[in-house]
Amino acid sequence: MNRSGSSSVTERKPAVNPPLWLLAELTYRCPLQCPYCSNPLDFAQQDKELTTEQWIEVFRQARAMGSVQIGFSGGEPLVRKDLPELIAAARNLGFYTNLITSGIGLTEKKLDSFAEAGLDHIQISFQASDETLNAALAGSEKAFRQKLEMARAVKAHGYPMVLNFVLHRHNIDQIDRIIELCIELEADDVELATCQFYGWAQLNREGLLPTREQIERAEQVVKQYRQRMAESGSLTNLLFVTPDYYEERPKGCMGGWGAIFLSVTPEGTALPCHSARQLPVEFPSVLEHDLQHIWYESFGFNRYRGFDWMPEPCRSCDEKEKDFGGCRCQAFMLTGNADNADPVCAKSPHHGKILAAREEANCTQMQISQLQFRNRVNSQLIFKANA
Ligand code: FES
Repeated sequence: MNRSGSSSVTERKPAVNPPLWLLAELTYRCPLQCPYCSNPLDFAQQDKELTTEQWIEVFRQARAMGSVQIGFSGGEPLVRKDLPELIAAARNLGFYTNLITSGIGLTEKKLDSFAEAGLDHIQISFQASDETLNAALAGSEKAFRQKLEMARAVKAHGYPMVLNFVLHRHNIDQIDRIIELCIELEADDVELATCQFYGWAQLNREGLLPTREQIERAEQVVKQYRQRMAESGSLTNLLFVTPDYYEERPKGCMGGWGAIFLSVTPEGTALPCHSARQLPVEFPSVLEHDLQHIWYESFGFNRYRGFDWMPEPCRSCDEKEKDFGGCRCQAFMLTGNADNADPVCAKSPHHGKILAAREEANCTQMQISQLQFRNRVNSQLIFKANA
């Protein structure tokens, strides 16, 4: 494909704009073991990480193409000793910089160094609103207290702060206490994101998917809090994200394939979404190609751009320009073929898989202790079992 739109095939495709959002997945190392982590199941096989200089070159190329926002994530990005240097480099290039962290490993001293580097924004994730459940999900007894302490320190440093809670069947019923905690911690934004099923979350879906009743109650509680907070003049903004599994139309995943989002994995694979490395599609490495080529010319980034690739029912659907056929990763995980319509769509011949999962959520007795936790040992076992 070329950007001038000169070929007949290209003419039918929308123009390709630059990647506005760069996600730098600095590492897969992480001190926690959340069973809903979106990292790949075989992350333990991926030990290599880009060097400081290689990352900065990626930032430079992305910025030159027009990227404006960068997220530092992982794994836990705080394990990278060069994080202040990476933040400073991105900031000096003109990026709006966002740290996505569990808060484990954060210290007052690090916050000072990030402030000096020019970090704009911090998102801290919690597992639950109480220490016991937080520890059961994260696999760390100390994590909850550390998160509380660091959330307070982040505010004291004057950062805009997002608190993120991944909701699932084991914590969604404490949503009122979660919101209370966020208000107490003076979060500017609160993301109450119901678990989406990629990576480890997909592996543990039976034990994580809430029931429809749980979702509806949670939505009600959020609504009440929004009203109460508006009346009291609270500035905390509550975002509630429902799971795809209770929708009848798919989401326009990543704003469209290769449309605005570019993710780079720890060892340098460039992806149009953070889950795409599981797809049977070849994706380029930033060590072998520049981002200009990767974004505009590579096979992987063009594979699902536009509409020509779509089979029915997406091809003739009048909503295809809104949802782009849904999520390619979800289509692949649930149907074995990434070209299919996302089974979330009620028009998909595979929608029965979603209905079956909802039914399973009503019947399962699975406890937290039965979930497969995201750690190196489990990752290696899964890799060997699938080899
Ligand atoms: Fe990969 Fe939706 S998460 S396309």
